Amino acid sequence: MRTKIIAGNWKMNKTASEAAALIEEIRAELEGVIGVEVVVCPPAVALKDAAAAVKGSAIGLGAQNVHWDESGAFTGEISAAMLKDLGVKYVIIGHSERRQYFGETNETVHKRTKAALAAGLTPLVCVGETLEERDSGQMESVVTKQIREGLADLGDDFTRIVVAYEPVWAIGTGRTATPAQAQEAHALIRRTLAEISSGDMANTVRIQYGGSMKPDNAVELLSQPDIDGGLIGGAALQAASFAAIVKAGVSLDAGFRVQRPAGS
Ligand code: 13P
Repeated sequence: MRTKIIAGNWKMNKTASEAAALIEEIRAELEGVIGVEVVVCPPAVALKDAAAAVKGSAIGLGAQNVHWDESGAFTGEISAAMLKDLGVKYVIIGHSERRQYFGETNETVHKRTKAALAAGLTPLVCVGETLEERDSGQMESVVTKQIREGLADLGDDFTRIVVAYEPVWAIGTGRTATPAQAQEAHALIRRTLAEISSGDMANTVRIQYGGSMKPDNAVELLSQPDIDGGLIGGAALQAASFAAIVKAGVSLDAGFRVQRPAGS
């Protein structure tokens, strides 16, 4: 059974003091709520205050990026050790906004993922197609390439990754993938994960959905057999809506299994 994981990607929102205040509110909303892994990913400069704010709660702290080198002349970058030192446990890698605006490629996603795993961080690795790619029938080839290249050769660490399927056309647009569209993509991702890993590993990897997930569509999305959580943007910036999505995941059983492809 895969424990559902709901993570808030705050993107470039909230100062350090605002981040601490939002976490206080989330803690109050989630008092006594158990059964779902909850993560918040504030901007890097808010991580220290956020770490203090999550202390003593079950809320995990995540960053929004990590560099692959341990240290050196990489102005503006942050290493895994620096994140760990602040109490960070998760890191978002390869978000479509980084692919679109900051030159992220499958190759750099791979390097960041390896570095995060080596440091003991849990990478939340994002994949997803643009509207143009979907409309021209390339969803499958784009997403499988992102998986194959970004998550190659992870060995035994493979089971520690989390994948986030975020169709670019659904991010911040209010246009959510239908549960059936999302499930289809998640099943494709799990089949691809099975092809590049061994044994039953692919069945243990959590796959989050991201893209306009809100309290009113969360139950339907989270009840799909291959949707194991959510990566939430806009709705994560308010404690009440974020907590409502977490609670939507609490009662749902994530224990569905997929068939491995024949001969694998
Ligand atoms: P929205 O929930 O605002 O669509 O953002 C999704 C996202 O990009 C999470 O990483």
